[in-house]
Amino acid sequence: MVIIKYAELKDMPHVCKAEQECFKYPYPPQVLLMLKLLYPELFLIAAEGDEIVGYACGVMRSNGCGHIVSICVRPKYRRRGIGKALMIELENRLKDLGARCFVLEVRVSNTVAQKLYIDLGYRIVKRIENYYPDGEDAYIMRKDL
Ligand SMILES: CC(C)(COP(=O)(O)OP(=O)(O)OC[C@H]1O[C@@H](n2cnc3c(N)ncnc32)[C@H](O)[C@@H]1OP(=O)(O)O)[C@@H](O)C(=O)NCCC(=O)NCCS
Repeated sequence: MVIIKYAELKDMPHVCKAEQECFKYPYPPQVLLMLKLLYPELFLIAAEGDEIVGYACGVMRSNGCGHIVSICVRPKYRRRGIGKALMIELENRLKDLGARCFVLEVRVSNTVAQKLYIDLGYRIVKRIENYYPDGEDAYIMRKDL
């Protein structure tokens, strides 16, 4: 059974490993640690037994929008609803902090993640050219409550 819970410091090396498994340009461990320390209630992991199978983290913006900073599920655990569960739980934590909207960036080629976000009620509001280190554009997606 998969459970979603707050990340603890001891989880962070496993979160970083998941990040490296999932992304071509992973966030450096120091960035993930900083996010966890600054926003502990917005740094969630999905765990199955002892295994960390995915994580999601966010920050609360001063304009009242929750920013989904990162989400990933390790390849062999995908397509089981874990990404969706992480998103919903992170949105709930952001709502607790007063979020009235949510925003995120996604690669224009990442149709899998876009489908997840569209299913959850997000829409594309903008395209930012050359957003990623390899030159790929990003879509900004947004959901209003
Ligand atoms: C995006 C990601 C987090 C989805 O995680 P997941 O646990 O597989 O997602 P879920 O099982 O909760 O799927 C939720 C919905 O997303 C969509 N989806 C997920 N995987 C999909 C796939 N391979 N093809 C098409 N749609 C897909 C579907 O709409 C799915 O709902 P359904 O299963 O009822 O059809 C995962 O693929 C991942 O970690 N990708 C690499 C990292 C990444 O791209 N992160 C997002 C950066 S912006």
